[in-house]
Amino acid sequence: MTNQTAQLTVDGHTYELPIVESTAGEKAIDIRNLLHETGYITLDSGYMNTGSCESGITYLDGQNGILRYRGYDIADLAENCVFIEVAYLLLTGELPNEKELNKFREDMIRYALIHEDMIHFFDHFPPNASPMSILSTMVGSLHDFYPEMDLDEDPYGGITTATARLLSKIRTIAAFSYKKSIGHPLVYPRADLNYCSNFLNMMFERPNIPYTIEPLMTAALNKLLILHADHEQNCSTSTVRLVGSSGVKLYPSISAGVGALWGPLHGGANAAVIRMLETIYADEMNFDKYIQMAKDPNNPYRLTGFGHRVYKTYDPRAKIIKEVTHEILETMNIEDPLLDIAQELEYRVGKDDYFVSRNLYPNVDFYSGIVYRAMGIPTNMFTVMFALGRLPGWISHWQEMHMDKENNRIGRPRQIYQGVVKRPFVPMEERR
Ligand code: SDX
Repeated sequence: MTNQTAQLTVDGHTYELPIVESTAGEKAIDIRNLLHETGYITLDSGYMNTGSCESGITYLDGQNGILRYRGYDIADLAENCVFIEVAYLLLTGELPNEKELNKFREDMIRYALIHEDMIHFFDHFPPNASPMSILSTMVGSLHDFYPEMDLDEDPYGGITTATARLLSKIRTIAAFSYKKSIGHPLVYPRADLNYCSNFLNMMFERPNIPYTIEPLMTAALNKLLILHADHEQNCSTSTVRLVGSSGVKLYPSISAGVGALWGPLHGGANAAVIRMLETIYADEMNFDKYIQMAKDPNNPYRLTGFGHRVYKTYDPRAKIIKEVTHEILETMNIEDPLLDIAQELEYRVGKDDYFVSRNLYPNVDFYSGIVYRAMGIPTNMFTVMFALGRLPGWISHWQEMHMDKENNRIGRPRQIYQGVVKRPFVPMEERR
């Protein structure tokens, strides 16, 4: 709180509303008593102007393209850490020391298997089932396979059995769903591989063709998961908070977050970008046709991978992912025409006033799919990759919400009713 206030005059009365200031200098008008004091609620479709909570996990500065997890700049973390180190940071608030990281690594190995009965689920999804619907179903079912997690020693703080279990198993669920989708035998997690190498091995190892784990690919996957690990109150994280606020346990809350992330305006964009680039490629590089469609106010078509609710400059994650893309393709000597198309599209958009005037720059989803393609991950798994990265962020926010005893109440927004106010009942014989 500050000693500043905002004045609101309505119906001849002037109210003093407290001003809240963040540790980073952002300011907000605290309206938590607005209805009680004024009889008015606020209206803010899409929550463009509304803060849902106070949080100490991630800081975004959309104007200057700054992203920090627990105060550490994303570029430093991506350059110097492995993914589970950053997951530990998000969950506990501190980077792990060597001993803590090794213990966390052991947890990732200990909890990597999924209950063998869960594997039967894969046999009963339709053959073309979406990996995101499989992921949401399987994560939700963990609650029934591991009911003891309700009795967790400290269900809301730091690294608990429930959180370590989920972080490790989501990787296995993702890889197993891929293997089932292509009819290959499952490859089980190994005790001698770290988090990302184990995932790549479970995805691509085959009984007849051994898979060579390229350190460059493992390093790139660590970076991508780190860059996706949290992003304050985005749509899916807000979903996890809202669902969790009803008192439901962790796994069903995360299952709901998977559903929110699936949308093409959110985590589904990384796959949509590849489909857009492939369309432009198939349409003989007719860039202008798609740029004009995106600019046409009467056409719902958008250039997916561009624009962001918070960033009004280049998404700092996109910058790093673009560098990773070049590094991977050049080092692995991979030719992907979609990278050239993406760069040409970015160049043309960057010169077009429609996009420049609306601060529409590449976001985290614009280049990430090209890296996943280079790894051999199919397009329909790209949003699953986003979920693997975002999981520690979702869990951290769920925990933070429950630990905030003063403000932890069920989320229940209000509305402004615009329907028919009242009318007499019409019996069946009188209805037209
Ligand atoms: C993620 O919130 C997060 O933090 C999300 C995320 C995370 O880490 O969790 O960063 C991950 O979801 C990234 C975003 C992925 N989605 C896409 O790439 C889909 C394409 N982008 C857009 O749909 C849009 O930019 C959003 C959804 C990202 C943001 O939408 P907003 O904030 O509601 O912005 P808007 O729709 O009001 O757009 C403002 C203007 C509009 O034009 P005008 O009405 O002013 O004339 O910009 C235009 C929009 O039409 N616009 C675009 C555009 N994005 C916005 N026009 C063409 N192409 C686009 N991509």
